[in-house]
Amino acid sequence: FHVDWDLVTAEKAGFDHFMLKEIYEQPKAYRDTMMGRISDDGRSVELTEIGMTADEIRAIRKIHIVACGTAMHAGLVGKTVLESLARIPVETDVASEYRYRSPIITPDTLVIVVSQSGETADTLAALREAKRCGARVLAITNVVGSSVSREADDVIITQAGPEIAVASTKAYTSQLIAFYLLGLFLAETLGTKDSAFIAEVVTAMHQLPEQVESILDNAPVLKQVAENLSKHNNLFFIGRGVDFAVAQEGSLKLKEISYIHSEAYAAGELKHGTLALIEEGIPVISLITQEDLYEKTLSNIKEVKARGAHVLGVVNEGFEGEVAKSVDELFAIPKTLPLLSPALSVVPLQLIAYYASLARGNDVDKPRNLAKSVTVE
Ligand code: G6P
Repeated sequence: FHVDWDLVTAEKAGFDHFMLKEIYEQPKAYRDTMMGRISDDGRSVELTEIGMTADEIRAIRKIHIVACGTAMHAGLVGKTVLESLARIPVETDVASEYRYRSPIITPDTLVIVVSQSGETADTLAALREAKRCGARVLAITNVVGSSVSREADDVIITQAGPEIAVASTKAYTSQLIAFYLLGLFLAETLGTKDSAFIAEVVTAMHQLPEQVESILDNAPVLKQVAENLSKHNNLFFIGRGVDFAVAQEGSLKLKEISYIHSEAYAAGELKHGTLALIEEGIPVISLITQEDLYEKTLSNIKEVKARGAHVLGVVNEGFEGEVAKSVDELFAIPKTLPLLSPALSVVPLQLIAYYASLARGNDVDKPRNLAKSVTVE
């Protein structure tokens, strides 16, 4: 009697690729990253790993979020989250730019570095520069004992578990959860939001894992969408606000593993140049999850539709009717608070990238030219 067995197959736990396994591990990663960080009554966030006193938090005048790749995209969402919850000005930058543009880092700057591995050379160098200038550095990382975690003043560990696929999925979404927790923690300390508001966000956060599961249940629909997209060589992602941040991550994911050229645009910016590239049949993936920006994004969808684009709308449940008239295909995600929607809307984009890569016969987990952790500058 002989059983074919190897360690890699066993580690994939029945999934064809690590990336798919990691996409499906997101509900658990959300729960694990929240675990122990929310009070029993759900009205308060407890980040005991942050050593800053309330006075030190009140002294923060600005925040710089610095990271590379997907972690930087989490930082783009983080900017909106921290600004809207804590009302502190935030800049997000790629580490390789930040380091060389002589950023204005003062002792009242909080520098947040985001790194799955905690070993990315440019991110680590930015951390060291921030410390040299006297700023306090908070790290959001997935690896306990990593260089970034050792050198930062405060560390929030995302509990995504090991991520093997080069294309980051559960690390990104766990970083979003970390930003939500941090935003609520700062808001509570600074008094910018009351406990009823915090309780409302926490309740919505607790629903996210199940909501992700319901998106995953619709994977076959996204597989079909991706198979059609995989025949194209160019496509666009558009969105406004946090939808634009997610569009950038969706575009990166698709580029990394399917090798299809794509660009993400702020929907309102299209008419200032990119609209010239829209021609008959070009796919456009449009995120429409922000109710206050809903009408505006719909008018941008009409601009690309009028020029022949084939539009997939990623929209909140309940708004399908309105959007259906303006798009060619529609994928609905469960309803959550506008600020939390990236934790849901990115999931269909991850699955589209995965299935497009698969349809093109690529090595999903090990895309050409890329490394999981970049320790050279
Ligand atoms: C590499 C990976 C990306 C990742 C980036 C930053 O380029 O391929 O997936 O987002 O590094 O990695 P980090 O470990 O710092 O989050």
